[in-house]
Amino acid sequence: MQTISRNVRSSWNPRCVFRTLSSQSSPESNPKMTSFGFKDVPEDQKEHLVKGVFDSVASKYDLMNDASSLGVHRLWKDEFVASLRPGKKGPIKCIDVAGGTGDIARRILDYARENFSDRETTIEVVDINGQMLQEGLRRFKKTMYYNTPQVSFHEANAQELPVPQFKDNSYDLYTIAFGIRNCTSIPSVLREAYRVLKPGGTFACLEFSRVNNSLLSTLYDQYSFSIIPLLGTILAGDRDSYQYLVESIRKFPPQPEFAQMIRDVGFETGVDADGGAWTNLWGGVACIHTGVKI
Ligand SMILES: C[S@@+](CC[C@H](N)C(=O)[O-])C[C@H]1O[C@@H](n2cnc3c(N)ncnc32)[C@H](O)[C@@H]1O
Repeated sequence: MQTISRNVRSSWNPRCVFRTLSSQSSPESNPKMTSFGFKDVPEDQKEHLVKGVFDSVASKYDLMNDASSLGVHRLWKDEFVASLRPGKKGPIKCIDVAGGTGDIARRILDYARENFSDRETTIEVVDINGQMLQEGLRRFKKTMYYNTPQVSFHEANAQELPVPQFKDNSYDLYTIAFGIRNCTSIPSVLREAYRVLKPGGTFACLEFSRVNNSLLSTLYDQYSFSIIPLLGTILAGDRDSYQYLVESIRKFPPQPEFAQMIRDVGFETGVDADGGAWTNLWGGVACIHTGVKI
């Protein structure tokens, strides 16, 4: 039977997520701060807070994704995977980090099989949250990939993938979708991506980004800040988590800044423009960034 390999500490108590924000930060200790949505929190707390968010939303995550994006996240994920053409040059070894319930992993395997009759491409789904992975495992049970060497699930932190398990220079494709903005240190995630990819391997990130058109941006802001937390309340009984998810999107660096961060760890990207280092989807509501390890 397929299981989840574990590599993270599990001392987290999900019931305290939002209450701990003020009580645990002592001004005397002067900790390094980072953003958790629009709030500033000590860096060493963010991981636990984010884990609490996804513990809370895991069982309703897919339903909420469909409701809040009106199903559009499915089109973006399809486009993301199609742009990478997995299987085109023969079977590849992939890692999908912050892979949650396995949406990208399933699409990669389907794409390779349907387009190139490839049943040997493999994907390791990695996430810090065991409950999201459990949902993923449950969904994979209904697919032909379950209990095959093509897919496996691993609980680990994107910022410090355990070296013995996730070796240097070992993957052809590293994907991360709607995950990197939740990580405390984006540069650490990027450095790990660079480390585990083979020379010539591809880093690909799908993430919410900046909308340049001011009318679209206003409409999008109104929709996200009023409708999404409301849907969170109605469908998942959890306004705070969905408020965080919306706020975290606004804190994520704009396209040129993120492209530079990708280059800073050593990846080669296209030029700083839509169609170069990144590809905007829906005017930048979401965006695909890629880089190649040289
Ligand atoms: C919005 S979900 C995206 C899931 C999936 N990739 C998708 O597109 O549907 C974000 C995921 O990032 C995971 N995550 C957050 N911080 C992480 C970290 N430091 N390491 C690994 N996964 C992390 C969460 O547990 C959650 O499953």
